[in-house]
Amino acid sequence: MPDPLLIAQSTDPLYLLPQMANRHGLIAGATGTGKTVTLQVMAENFSRIGVPVFAADVKGDLSGISQPGKDNPKIAERVKKLKLDDFKFEGYSTTCWDVFGTQGHPVRSTVSEMGPLLFSRILNLNDTQAGVLTLAFKIADDNGLLVLDLKDLQALLLHVGDHAADYQTQYGNISAASIGAIQRGLLTLQQQGGDKFFGEPALNLDDLIQTDTNGRGIINLLAADKLLGSPQLYATFLLWLLSELFEKLPEVGDPEKPKLVFFFDEAHLLFTDIPPYLQARIEQVVRLIRSKGVGIYFITQNPLDIPDVILGQLGNRVQHALRAFTPRDQKSVKAAADTFRVNPKLDVATVITQLEVGEALVSFLDEKGTPGIVQRALICPPHSQIGPITPDQRAQLIQNSIVQGVYEKAVDRESAYERLKGRAEQTPSPGAPPDKPWYANLPSLGFPSTGRRGDSVVEAMVKSAARSVGSSVGRQIVRGVLGSLLGGNRR
Ligand SMILES: Nc1ncnc2c1ncn2[C@@H]1O[C@H](COP(=O)(O)OP(=O)(O)OP(=O)(O)O)[C@@H](O)[C@H]1O
Ligand SMILES: [Mg+2]
Repeated sequence: MPDPLLIAQSTDPLYLLPQMANRHGLIAGATGTGKTVTLQVMAENFSRIGVPVFAADVKGDLSGISQPGKDNPKIAERVKKLKLDDFKFEGYSTTCWDVFGTQGHPVRSTVSEMGPLLFSRILNLNDTQAGVLTLAFKIADDNGLLVLDLKDLQALLLHVGDHAADYQTQYGNISAASIGAIQRGLLTLQQQGGDKFFGEPALNLDDLIQTDTNGRGIINLLAADKLLGSPQLYATFLLWLLSELFEKLPEVGDPEKPKLVFFFDEAHLLFTDIPPYLQARIEQVVRLIRSKGVGIYFITQNPLDIPDVILGQLGNRVQHALRAFTPRDQKSVKAAADTFRVNPKLDVATVITQLEVGEALVSFLDEKGTPGIVQRALICPPHSQIGPITPDQRAQLIQNSIVQGVYEKAVDRESAYERLKGRAEQTPSPGAPPDKPWYANLPSLGFPSTGRRGDSVVEAMVKSAARSVGSSVGRQIVRGVLGSLLGGNRR
């Protein structure tokens, strides 16, 4: 069993227990109160016991974790105050990722991996439009069309729009207005850089769950400064990542330490204007992913931004100072105070407003999973650098990373766009079954082989085996068969 992780110190040291770290957590506090440094300290601790970390780096300041810290009077004072005798500066193995591919290795997903539900969220579609998008996905599925990038989706929509009347009997109403709305959404997404994100090679989740040569967990940082310009994309991307992890990782029950810890900064964005069905899914993922050994830590200014049902699942808490100027502020202070297990010696609601930078109210789960009594505590100083790295240092990290060269070059294989372009001259009548290819009668490898869906499954499997680029197709099929949490059909 790994040693408990020293995160903060009150009269006693406060430990985050590795075996309870998958019971999730919360880091909250007003701006400039020490949230990022607390995240950094936690991430360092996880790395030291061999637990990889994934964190969104919202301001770029978390990147300092890759470099040893430097002596400064504030750190020295804290080291002395907390009597951290063997404290030493060190950097941690870090992999930089960037949806736009400039600040780190490109992170990609395919449109079909994202699924109609999440895609509707990115495009901000209403229910009718989302229904049409779902139909388009289904038509692609039934016809064995791979929808990998935005160009594929555009081609698919064009095709579906052009043949709306033919598809109507089998799939239901496809309004031109809805198609138009989706297309406009796609255009905006493209302008925001979405065309970089959707495509191949898609991210292999195993690449996030790595340790370095010293057995330390790799810190994966997602450059999120520019991504936050498209909050929907940011939130949906992280949600997608969670759901992928959920689907991919095996059940582990109660592990002695997490497989991966996920820090979700600016967590309020996940829940802003969120439709109820999606919130229900997030609750589900958060609840169930625990048994896959993934701990999720939400970072947010105001704990009220997180829905109660989710807040209730966040067992390990660090509450930095909150302001109490406005009535809403006061309400948050009270709400935050109410979530802690009472400490008779501490007037939590008052203390929250008085905490200094790097000081917090802390409550971690004990070995039985009960929240510890809340303590006013100083957070340990980080061993790594506080604040951002230089562009040169970043370039070094990218150059020397274990995934260097794997994702750099985008691949554009034959998919819906190319297929539909080819088909334009000799359009098959959409109602009729597609021509059976030579492999249509192969055993269906355990997948349903009745009807057209089965055919497309086999076709897609053979294609994917033949090309063996990425696993997106295989996973999408599994989704269709098992019914997934997030890829499911909304109708
Ligand atoms: N545990 C700590 N040990 C030493 N210094 C700290 C600690 N926590 C915070 N600080 C100091 O306080 C500064 C602000 O902290 P931090 O950047 O973590 O705040 P924040 O809550 O993330 O702010 P924002 O909301 O603006 O992102 C740090 O740059 C650092 O100098
Ligand atoms: Mg911060």
